[in-house]
Amino acid sequence: MSLVHLAAHHREAIADFLTRTKEFSAEDREVALELLDLGVRGEDTYRFWVFEEAGKALGYICFGPTPMTRGTFDLYWICVDPDAKGKGVGRALVAKMEDELRQEGGRLVRVETAGLEDYAATRAFYDRLGFEVVARIRDFYWPGNDLFTYGVYLQERAQKGE
Ligand SMILES: CC(C)(COP(=O)(O)OP(=O)(O)OC[C@H]1O[C@@H](n2cnc3c(N)ncnc32)[C@H](O)[C@@H]1OP(=O)(O)O)[C@@H](O)C(=O)NCCC(=O)NCCS
Repeated sequence: MSLVHLAAHHREAIADFLTRTKEFSAEDREVALELLDLGVRGEDTYRFWVFEEAGKALGYICFGPTPMTRGTFDLYWICVDPDAKGKGVGRALVAKMEDELRQEGGRLVRVETAGLEDYAATRAFYDRLGFEVVARIRDFYWPGNDLFTYGVYLQERAQKGE
């Protein structure tokens, strides 16, 4: 098992598990693949890490700097193959992103997620990783579907030794 940079040979496995991820709509998948293809082509707007085992991608994370901020980043996508969930892949990907950003002076990572019941597991994951809810906008996506914005302040976390 290792954490590696995104490469063209990962695309097929990632596209496959994005399709099997029930939380994502067709529109979500389309956007996720668009960003993935930019990454595969070597565009550097979005950064990626892939968790692989025996050369096969089991999960990936995509993040990048938030425009007009200093040291704030957005975690755009994280997805783990449904068959590999609950084994620490997501935690390892987030830790890798945080280490990289902390080393370059990154301050804050923001991540947005939905309030639907389908996303309860995703919110539990961010809670468990010590992200805090920094904002919540009622009925944001549509009536009954709030926007949750989670944040983690990287230097504070390092000082606490988390
Ligand atoms: C959310 C997701 C990335 C988590 O990845 P994962 O590899 O299954 O998570 P991990 O095994 O690393 O779990 C990390 C911690 O979160 C907790 N956690 C993970 N899934 C959980 C769940 N369904 N319910 C409660 N806690 C959960 C684990 O208990 C673990 O805590 P611990 O390390 O203290 O034991 C993965 O489930 C996923 O891809 N979900 C669908 C896509 C998605 O919603 N992406 C985010 C929006 S872009």
